[in-house]
Amino acid sequence: MPGRDAADPGGAQGDVTPRFVPYAPAAGPRVADAEVLARAQAFRRQLETRRSVRHFSDAPVARAVIEELVRAAASAPSGAHKQPWTFVVVGDPALKRRIRAAAEHEERLSYGGRMSEEWLRDLAPLGTTWEKPFLEVAPWLVVLFKQEHALHPDGSTGKHYYVNESVGIAAGFFIAAVHAAGLVTLTHTPSPMGFLAELLGRPRNEKAFLLLPVGHPAPGAEVPDLRRKPLAEVSAVHE
Ligand SMILES: Cc1cc2nc3c(=O)[nH]c(=O)nc-3n(C[C@H](O)[C@H](O)[C@H](O)COP(=O)(O)O)c2cc1C
Repeated sequence: MPGRDAADPGGAQGDVTPRFVPYAPAAGPRVADAEVLARAQAFRRQLETRRSVRHFSDAPVARAVIEELVRAAASAPSGAHKQPWTFVVVGDPALKRRIRAAAEHEERLSYGGRMSEEWLRDLAPLGTTWEKPFLEVAPWLVVLFKQEHALHPDGSTGKHYYVNESVGIAAGFFIAAVHAAGLVTLTHTPSPMGFLAELLGRPRNEKAFLLLPVGHPAPGAEVPDLRRKPLAEVSAVHE
């Protein structure tokens, strides 16, 4: 059982007394070994069918769905539980149009010479260009901002820890939640992404992390034919 060391009655942690509640996983009591493997396989198989999709249908998706996806993402772990993220959800067609125009402006510069030749060669199998029609077609754009530090209502600031790691994990949860719901998204980074904070009027402690269009795939949507590295190439085991 965790507890406080009587010889250290606070120190840098002050007089905060941690509070604990029982860990109550949805599954109930300990899961049998065979069932653990079956669940791991089922989840892996489901995740393996996820793809980044760049052709969206304009079919509507209820705001309640997007809110569930954001709730799922916001359940991610974070450094010192600071939850240093903001998910800005955009469905307004005029705002989507402005985001598309600004993103395409940056992408045109990137594809037109700002990216290295090696980078462009690495992108070639994906068939991407500076054009991003999906930013207008997808019913929702979710812009994930990282909070580099806390900004309290009185204007004072506070520290956030492992911000990139934390927000990256939340992004992963979000992408997995989109997939589990039967929708698609694209992890998009039309960099530099400063225009997003500006267009969306974000406070000065927030920096755009990812732009994630969310919706149904367009009928007949295609994705690049990619191979994933096998287990032996992505892992090492010391048993
Ligand atoms: C951090 C990050 C940034 C990405 N940025 C872009 C992007 O700006 N445009 C794009 O079309 N795809 C982008 N992608 C998507 C990758 O190209 C894609 O994940 C990769 O090709 C593997 O394909 P899959 O997601 O279908 O497995 C990005 C992915 C990540 C993780």
